[in-house]
Formats: sequence, structure tokens, C-alpha cells
Amino acid sequence: MNTTTKYLGLELKNPVVVSSSRLTSSYDKVMEIIEHGAGAVVLKSLFEEQIINDIEGALRDNEMYFWYPEATDFVKHISKEHGVNEYIKFIKKIKANTTTPVIASVNCTTSQQWPQFAKELQSAGADALELNIAIFPHDETIDSRDIENVYVDIVESVKQHVQIPIAVKLGAQFTNIPQMVSRLDAAGAQGLVLFNRFFRPDIDIETSEISYSNYLSEPAEMTESLRWISLLAPKTRCDLIANTGIHDYKAVVKQLMAGAAAVQLTSILYKKGVPYLATLIGEVQAWMKRKNIDSIDKIRINTRHGNANAAEFQRVQFMRKTTGILS
Ligand SMILES: Cc1cc2nc3c(=O)[nH]c(=O)nc-3n(C[C@H](O)[C@H](O)[C@H](O)COP(=O)(O)O)c2cc1C
Repeated sequence: MNTTTKYLGLELKNPVVVSSSRLTSSYDKVMEIIEHGAGAVVLKSLFEEQIINDIEGALRDNEMYFWYPEATDFVKHISKEHGVNEYIKFIKKIKANTTTPVIASVNCTTSQQWPQFAKELQSAGADALELNIAIFPHDETIDSRDIENVYVDIVESVKQHVQIPIAVKLGAQFTNIPQMVSRLDAAGAQGLVLFNRFFRPDIDIETSEISYSNYLSEPAEMTESLRWISLLAPKTRCDLIANTGIHDYKAVVKQLMAGAAAVQLTSILYKKGVPYLATLIGEVQAWMKRKNIDSIDKIRINTRHGNANAAEFQRVQFMRKTTGILS
């Protein structure tokens, strides 16, 4: 049985990829993930804002920088490099000890300066780069198109600095996802992670405080990416990798049937532990055996037969157009 799949031109031994999170932020955890059979691993994102916040906090606490403001720019530059250097060391150490593809992840908010660091991640040995772009539309005076342009500018800018493949990790909140996908494809993205699951604050009604307990996904959330992978897979050149709510082998198979090249998961590993990866991969293989399917490519029916279910996946209301009855 052939469980390999191609994603971003990389050959993965199976289609189960561990997405970026705290689980992929330490060498030991990443090695544990690899030992339990992950097809690839996406490292914890390098956050520009986080590094800047750390630096600014440190500068605020040091009176000297109040009196010598010109020193702050220098320190900011050095500290930023330090943050990137730590990440580079992390990539190098992992790559020295595994042949499993390692995807570095950068959280970008602008197309200036930061994408240049991408080159250094490539030199460190990253097999691919995932751009985690999430621009929150909090300002009603900014045009939607201007926000979308930032995504495209970031990809174009990073593309100028690296030769390794680039994937973009997106949220689902775009008015016209197919257009966004086609613009990112034209800008040079080779893969799309559909979709990121953003931080979702809640309110604790006992304490009236913001609660952060809602940070893991539920299996039902998987249908949003299933819809869009089904609709986009037959149309785009980009490799699509499904993400959010993939908690069991059935979800993996469904996403592959829809046309995904592979899947990414995190929450289920927080819930069940990293060893569950091996169980999940074994269950996909058992399903393939039971169905007499000998390769991942043969599961990806949607890409081979065109989008037979397009009408169903385009349907958003519960009213059936043909019969006019609620179903
Ligand atoms: C604790 C935690 C930290 C995360 N950190 C990152 C991150 O640094 N970069 C990123 O792109 N996604 C991050 N994510 C999002 C996950 O990679 C993933 O996209 C999301 O959890 C949806 O997948 P899931 O339903 O399998 O959890 C994080 C998720 C969690 C739960």
C-alpha cells in the first residue's frame, strides 16, 4: 500500500501533517511527533509582533533607553535578529536529526522587512515555508481590497527572497475565497492551508471575565474546509491542505476525497496526546485496506472526476432550490 502524497513538491510518507502550535515549539516535542509517524511537521510560528513586544517590554524596563533613545533602534534590530537566530538554530537542530519534511512558519503582518528573514529560514534547512497571515479587519475605513492586497504583497515579497515552496495559511473570512486563492496562486503560493482557526475569546458568566478555554477545535468545524477544498481542488494549481477540526481517520479520508493533498492537525493531539498520531495513520491504512485502495491518489476522487458535488457544496441555505421544501 502506498500512503505517500505530494505536498509543495515534497514527498510525504503519509498525508498527516502536524500543524503549527506550542506542540511544535520545542525540539523534544517535534522529535516525538516525527517518531509517531507524522508525514511532515510545521514549526511554531515566528511572530513578528511577539518579538517586538518582548523587545519593547525590555526597553521600557530599562531606564537607560529613556535617556539614550537612539540606542533603542539598535537594540530593536539586534533583538529581532536574536529572535530569528534562535528559530534558525531550532530548524538546524531538527533538520540534522530527521529526514521528515520540516516546514517553518512565519506570522506576517506586512510585506516589509520581515519576509527578508524568510531567506535565513531557507538557509537553515527548512523544506518549505508557511506564511501564517491573519489581518483582523478592525477599522471600518480600510477597504476590503486593501486588506487582501497585503496578503498578495507578502507572498510576492517572500517569493523574491526564497526558492523553497511557500504555502499560505488563511482564515475562511473572505468575501470571495476563489478570487483570493487565484490571486495568491498568481503571486507564487504553491500551497494553501484551509483554514486556520483563530483565537476565539469567550466570556465566563460566573466571573464576568474573558475566558480562554475555547482554544481547541471540535470535529464539526471540519466541514468549512471540506466545502472549500471540494470546490477549489479541481480549479487551482495550488496544493490544498485541510486544517481545523480534523480529529479522526474519517475526517482525513473525507478531506482526501474532497481533493486535499494532505491534512494538518493540532487540537486532537492536545486532547489525546502525540501517540494518537500513529493510531490515526494506522486507521487510515486499515480503511484503505478494507476498501481495497492502494494509494492516496486514488482516494482523491474529486480531483480526478471534476467537481461532481459542486452544487451541493455551493449550497448555503437549507431551502432546496428544486423542490422548494425545507430539508
Ligand atoms: C495552542 C495553539 C497554538 C497555536 N499556534 C499557532 C501558531 O503559532 N501558528 C499557526 O499558524 N497556527 C497556530 N495554531 C493553529 C493550529 O495550527 C491550527 O491551525 C488550528 O488549531 C486548527 O487545527 P485543529 O482543529 O487541528 O486544532 C495554534 C493552535 C493552538 C491550539
